[in-house]
Amino acid sequence: MSLAIEMAHISKRYSGVTANDDVSISVSAGEILGLIGENGAGKTTMMKMLYGMVSPDEGDIRLFGKPVKITSPHVAIKAGIGMVHQHFMLMPNMSVLQNIILGQTPTQWDFIDEKAAVKQIDAIMDEYDMRVDVGEKIFRLSVGEKQRVEIIKSLFRKAKILILDEPTAVLTPHETDRLLEVMQQLKANGTAIIFITHKLREVMKITDKITVMRRGRVTGNLDTRDANPELLSNLMVGRSVDLNIPRNPYNPGKPVLELEGVFAKDKRGLTALHNVNFLVRAGEIVGIAGVEGNGQTELIEVIAGIISPTRGTVRLHHDDITGMSVRRRREKGMSHIPEDRLRVGTSRDCSIRDNLILNRYYQKPFSRNFLLDNGALLRFSEEQCEKFSVKTPDSTYLLGTLSGGNMQKVVLARELEVNPDLLIAAQPTRGVDIGAIETIHQKIVAVRDAGKSVLLISAELDEILSLSDRILVMYEGEIMAEFNREDATERKIAVYMTGAKKVKREIP
Ligand SMILES: Nc1ncnc2c1ncn2[C@@H]1O[C@H](COP(=O)(O)OP(=O)(O)OP(=O)(O)O)[C@@H](O)[C@H]1O
Ligand SMILES: [Mg+2]
Repeated sequence: MSLAIEMAHISKRYSGVTANDDVSISVSAGEILGLIGENGAGKTTMMKMLYGMVSPDEGDIRLFGKPVKITSPHVAIKAGIGMVHQHFMLMPNMSVLQNIILGQTPTQWDFIDEKAAVKQIDAIMDEYDMRVDVGEKIFRLSVGEKQRVEIIKSLFRKAKILILDEPTAVLTPHETDRLLEVMQQLKANGTAIIFITHKLREVMKITDKITVMRRGRVTGNLDTRDANPELLSNLMVGRSVDLNIPRNPYNPGKPVLELEGVFAKDKRGLTALHNVNFLVRAGEIVGIAGVEGNGQTELIEVIAGIISPTRGTVRLHHDDITGMSVRRRREKGMSHIPEDRLRVGTSRDCSIRDNLILNRYYQKPFSRNFLLDNGALLRFSEEQCEKFSVKTPDSTYLLGTLSGGNMQKVVLARELEVNPDLLIAAQPTRGVDIGAIETIHQKIVAVRDAGKSVLLISAELDEILSLSDRILVMYEGEIMAEFNREDATERKIAVYMTGAKKVKREIP
């Protein structure tokens, strides 16, 4: 096998941060390298250098044996590199087709042959069984669909080297399995693949070899057959991780959140929620299981006050809040970790500090006599960064400079700090490393143990099973079944997730 990619002795420093310190990786044609490591370890930065988005301070890159200077993504694409980014790089107001063919050189008479492109895209979607409506605008797509477009775009450009930066973080279990199959196919065709993920199961299943990073340096290079999850987590975060979080006995109290006969429509105007009824009591975690795109997004938005239901009632502490603004709901004790942290709930161009107080800047002690108290703000935000181990030199840095997982921690810090009566946690551990998953799970359980309520929505069945006291399964906008913690198993739940069965529930 010839080496497709060699990155040798690469270093990259930002003011105050060493993102990469003497890092070397190599991948052969027809090989899959797993690049893993804790949040902020420097994985994405390494890949941005390979894709020409950032230039290294030191080190050399060779592609197929030849030294190269990759000065821009354009150079990278021409050299046969495709990258599926951790945060989508799509144009929201353009169609799927336009996004995929963006940057293609027009053929003669300045004209792009769209028909031929559509045919080619169709063939790719058929081959890999990844369907997306090519005429649809990007902003109307779900997170999972956008990811699919990113992957199709790289395949359309016939990349020989493919970088996948946490592609499975936003995919459903079924989509993930499909992607892994696609990767196998690409590998068989001789593509060199770099696969970044926080899910050790995927690393063990699909990669040929693994490079582990921690704090900007390589902490291990091993063949996958010599690896195991325990060893990898030690190399990644410097300790073993235990996701069995101890909890108090189950002792639910009064209803805190109640949904009664709730119907809602999605962005396309189609029915997304159909007669949803349930309640969440004080002192319990209720988990919503289901394949993404079955109404979970709309359910969260109805409860958080982002969209209005077409019918039905939402109550918080017995008060009807169906028509209440987001801010009033928050003041009544609701807190919300949104599923798509870059679209809702953060601003990349504001400082970490400002992001930490978005929800309460107008309250004491941050605001006095209509003036913001900068000292109080800074003390608070530094404390939060410390508590949630947000990796940054200080909290005046822009949120956009943080690694993906560290942005998620900022959102968590803000939403948990207000000591909510009801925490809506949507995909709370998406993109965070296993060390941080442990911490976040502990904090969610602590909210419950303190007698507060948690509504947990997660595409990770493991997460739902390990945290929830009760589990509701959603399919096509309806609650199909309900399980108690002790009765729930992955297999039982999966049957209802596909809509194959439905149980008649006593409406609470
Ligand atoms: N433009 C920038 N300015 C300042 N610091 C930066 C910039 N880009 C990245 N960094 C820092 O470099 C470090 C490495 O970030 P990187 O995004 O490569 O991490 P990562 O391994 O991909 O983490 P994650 O798993 O959370 O995505 C982080 O500490 C990050 O804050
Ligand atoms: Mg990253």
